[in-house]
Formats: sequence, C-alpha cells, structure tokens
Amino acid sequence: MAGSFLTAQGLSPEQLFEIFDRIKILKQDMKQRRSLRVLQNKVIGILFEKPSTRTRTSFESAIVRLGGATVYLPVGDLQIKRGEPIEDTARMFGSYLDALVARVYEHQTVEDLARYSGIPVINGLSDLAHPTQAICDIFTVLEVKGRVKDLKMAYIGDGNNVCHSLLMVCALAGMHMTVACPEGYCPNLEILKKAKAIAQQTGADLAVIEDPKEASSGAHILYTDVWVSMGEEKEEKTKCEIFQGYQINEALLEVADKDAQVMHCLPAHRGQEITSEILEGPRSIVWQQAENKMYGAAGILDRFVSSEHLF
Ligand code: CP
Ligand code: NVA
Repeated sequence: MAGSFLTAQGLSPEQLFEIFDRIKILKQDMKQRRSLRVLQNKVIGILFEKPSTRTRTSFESAIVRLGGATVYLPVGDLQIKRGEPIEDTARMFGSYLDALVARVYEHQTVEDLARYSGIPVINGLSDLAHPTQAICDIFTVLEVKGRVKDLKMAYIGDGNNVCHSLLMVCALAGMHMTVACPEGYCPNLEILKKAKAIAQQTGADLAVIEDPKEASSGAHILYTDVWVSMGEEKEEKTKCEIFQGYQINEALLEVADKDAQVMHCLPAHRGQEITSEILEGPRSIVWQQAENKMYGAAGILDRFVSSEHLF
C-alpha cells in the first residue's frame, strides 16, 4: 500500500509484524541475489540534508536490488540552497519521481515534502524521528532473540530522534523500554504520551529515568546513540560533559540480563557512549543490526512504495 512513512506512529502492531515478515522473506531473497521486481519501473529520489553512510547506502542498494532506480539529491546541489521553497521543489519531485527518501534537519520538511509532492516520502532521519532505523533494529532483536514481546530494552543516552522511534516501535511490538537520560535530554513528552497510549494496548512498559544502571538492570538489550547528534556540533563540549556516565560499558552489562546484547545505530564514538571493548565484543550485535538496514529498507519500500504487495 503506497503512503508516506514519516514516523512509526501511524502503524498498527499487526502492520509492524507484517513488515517484519516481509523483511525476513526479502532478506532471504536478497541474500540469494534473486531477481526482484518489487520496485520495477520506480524512480526514487534520495534527498539528504545531512551526511549518511548507512541509511543512504542501504536504501540505494535496496532500491536497485528490488528493480528500481535512484536519483541522489544532495541539498547543496539543488535550488533549495539558493532559496527555492520546499513546496515548489516537492511539486517537481512529485512529477519526476515515484517516491522520496529524505534526511532532514526539521521534521516539518518531511511533512512538507510529503504534502506538496503527493508521492510516498520515507523519513531517513529528522530531528524528531528515525523510524526506518527503529524498524530495522527491532527486526534485529526478533531475529537474534526469537521474540520481542516482554523483552526489555534499556536505552542509554539522548532522548531524541532514534530514542523517539524506538519508543514507538517497542510500544507497537509489546517490548518494554526504559530510557536513561540526563535531565533536560528526556524524550519529547508528546511522543512519550503517544507511545504510552500504544503500549497500553500491547502490554509494553515504557519508562524514563536518569540512572543508567537502574535502567540496565535485567535488560535484554542495551542500546545507545551518539552524545552529539548531527547539527549539534556547537554543543559538543557541553553535551560531552553532561553525558559522562551515559556509556555502555562492562559495569552496565554486569547488571543486565546474563544473555544481554548491545546495540548502537552507529556511527559510534568509542570511549564516549560505548567502550571499544563492548562494541567489538561478543555481546555486540551492532554489525548485524547495521547489515539489516538494507533488508529493513527493502521491507519498508515494499510496504510503502510498491503497489504490488498489499498487506
Ligand atoms: N544509523 C544511521 O542512520 O547511520 P547513517 O547516519 O550512516 O545513515
Ligand atoms: N541521533 C543521531 C542519530 C544518527 C544516526 C543524529 O541525529 O545524528
């Protein structure tokens, strides 16, 4: 079913698990290098305002592997840079393209792109959300643990975009999540409220506290993100001071479940939010998590862009 994917909020739990099922099938097909036509005759724009290694490459590769074509649109090369309004740009994209993957600073930009283009827009990260990341991540948990319901994730760090989407997807999946963040860096209250409303229906338990050790106690997954997000470079010094102690290390793993695994959306800053030993160690499923971004992208494109598969 075609449509935009700007946050995970619009999904139902059933739709989420249907996407997980599709990711699993597409992963097998793609690993066997099967010829897939899910996006045959589709041209998909990749509009990025910020750097990206994983999201851009995984989406572009997934599109090509699904039989579609991509047009890379770095914002610095577009007339947007010279002041052309996003509405006018979006109207053109609506005529030339079949869908758009966009990474932007302000969430409103993906909303505007979707509204004025009339084509499906997939949010590849905004200040508010990183929904494709969270889908791929919880798929990875399902793959590694064999279930998600009643598992507990401890998220250690900044309560921003990645954390917001994890809250939403954990809520939909029925997975518990405790966020440990310093005062002033808690998740957006509106998003937390919406995630909690979903969690009430699925039985997930969502909490926000300050203490990383308390959050990690008994956790099956320890998850972290960078202390300084893209666009926050000016705050680097302050944030690095505030986030001292919000690091996934041996001490946190000790209080977690004995089979706990560690996740990170990447890029990682060894010695800041995670130690090098943990990132490279046996508990880390970070590389599998990153690999799954391509299969996750395929499942998401299949759900939101392809007209072939109706769930
Ligand atoms: N995790 C993630 O979104 O990575 P990139 O910034 O490299 O796309
Ligand atoms: N919170 C990070 C996520 C990077 C994938 C950022 O916005 O830079």
